[in-house]
Amino acid sequence: MLNGIPVGIVGLGSYVPDKILTNADLEKIVDTTDEWIKTRTGISERHIVEEGMSSSDLAIGASKRALEDAGITADKIDLIICSTATPDMMFPATSCIVQDAIGAHNAGAFDMEVGCSGFIYALTVGTQFIKSGMYRTVLVVGAECLTRVTDWADRSTCVLFGDGAGAAILQPLKKGRGFMGFELGSRGSGANLLTLPAGGSKKPASHETVNNREHYIRMDGNEVYKFAVVIMGEASLKALEKAGVNPEDVSYFIPHQANIRIINAAARRLKLDMDRVIVNVDRFGNTSCASVPLALDEAYRAGRIKEGDILVFVAFGAGLSWGAAVLEWGGEPLEEGESICQ
Ligand code: UT7
Repeated sequence: MLNGIPVGIVGLGSYVPDKILTNADLEKIVDTTDEWIKTRTGISERHIVEEGMSSSDLAIGASKRALEDAGITADKIDLIICSTATPDMMFPATSCIVQDAIGAHNAGAFDMEVGCSGFIYALTVGTQFIKSGMYRTVLVVGAECLTRVTDWADRSTCVLFGDGAGAAILQPLKKGRGFMGFELGSRGSGANLLTLPAGGSKKPASHETVNNREHYIRMDGNEVYKFAVVIMGEASLKALEKAGVNPEDVSYFIPHQANIRIINAAARRLKLDMDRVIVNVDRFGNTSCASVPLALDEAYRAGRIKEGDILVFVAFGAGLSWGAAVLEWGGEPLEEGESICQ
């Protein structure tokens, strides 16, 4: 169990662009079939941004909904952490663009880049800021426009990704256990398995990098798959052990939505029936950092998640990296004047 004041999610929101790209649409772009995509990934369609939209637009939409859900105004936010692998620009941080757009005049802001595991890392970091007593209200947002860096000529990757954002407001609780355990990990020896090779300091943009299509995602899908089917289950079990919770007491498992076969394997490892697993990869594809909060928000708004439910979040991605978190849903936030010290 974690020390310090309990920290929970007091507001949730998500946002996806309106435009939908179906498997039938992809059949017209690359040599693929609806049947291949569905059986190998579970994906039927995904939302994609229109020209001119970027990750901050999606993050802003999700953050506004989370604020509304929490019933607080943006000036109450002390810190914004935006996890994204597709920031608007190399700099400034996308979180600063969000800060200005939502009117969070009192907030610090920074981005975190941990591939698709970013949202779990951001939840972990945000929770520590509150537990330490430094901040009271933290906005954590996962936002991604992977279709902006997708190689539409590469059928092994272009069928996988979608765009979206999810946001959570964290606050201290006076009742309820909130986050009970986290597990974070990395294996940099696998860094080459999932990359966007150019445009950073190692390989700045040049005519050559553009001609070589090095500004697009490159992935060894098989190797990432093998890693994912093991790590999703292992990381979840470690986070549960740290939280002191038995896997059979999990109400809902909310995994990174990369591939239905990876999700099924993780559920089997935890011995969970699929009715306790939240799945929306069929309609959104892999939205990287946005996938866990998008799935959580959808289940929450559909009324599936109840007070006191034990939720497990888990994600893996570029790095290689992974993260898992155990949360008791609900609780009662501290009133504004109440002391954060225990
Ligand atoms: O958020 C983390 C990001 N990454 C992931 O989560 C990805 C993890 N990996 C995966 O989900 C899977 O490895 C993929 C879905 C990417 C690929 O599935 P797979 O079952 O591992 O297929 P494969 O790469 O072994 O390819 C099997 C065959 C190949 O043809 P041959 O060599 O057997 O003739 C591919 O060329 O399928 C072919 N193929 C396709 N066929 C139709 C690859 N992509 C496609 C496609 N449509 N889109």
